[in-house]
Parts: sequence; C-alpha cells; structure tokens
Amino acid sequence: MDSIFIPFFTTKKNGSGIGLSLCKQIMMLHKGKIQITSEEDKGTIMSLVF
Ligand SMILES: Nc1ncnc2c1ncn2[C@@H]1O[C@H](COP(=O)(O)OP(=O)(O)OP(=O)(O)O)[C@@H](O)[C@H]1O
Ligand SMILES: [Mg+2]
Repeated sequence: MDSIFIPFFTTKKNGSGIGLSLCKQIMMLHKGKIQITSEEDKGTIMSLVF
C-alpha cells in the first residue's frame, strides 16, 4: 500500500508499474485525488475524487 504509486513498483510477474503512478498524476492535474481501501482476501476499493 505504501509503494503502489511509486513509478515502476509492481507485484505482478509481467507488470510495468506504470498504471497507478500515471493515474495519480492525471488526477492531480484535474485537482482530484485517489482514495484506496483494501482488505486482504476481501477486495480493494479505489475511488477517484474530483
Ligand atoms: N485494482 C487493484 N487491486 C489491487 N491491487 C492493485 C490494483 N491495481 C494495482 N494494484 C497493486 O499496485 C501495484 C502497482 O500498480 P500499477 O497499476 O502501477 O502497476 P501494475 O498493475 O503492476 O502494472 P501496469 O503498469 O501494467 O498497470 C500492482 O502491482 C498491485 O500490487
Ligand atoms: Mg495496473
């Protein structure tokens, strides 16, 4: 959770680690933010707040 927005950080075998850092940058340019809550073995909620 602490690292997921760092460019090129990935936990996937073939991930690039670009997706979330790019999303964060785009949201910042719209003066918005991304909020995340995650529970292991249950799920993850990502909210784009404009
Ligand atoms: N929807 C999601 N649910 C749970 N974890 C996620 C989700 N999206 C991303 N993550 C976590 O955050 C990490 C970084 O995500 P990010 O999108 O930046 O890269 P990626 O998905 O690994 O590769 P790609 O650049 O192809 O999207 C992922 O490797 C994963 O651990
Ligand atoms: Mg991704």
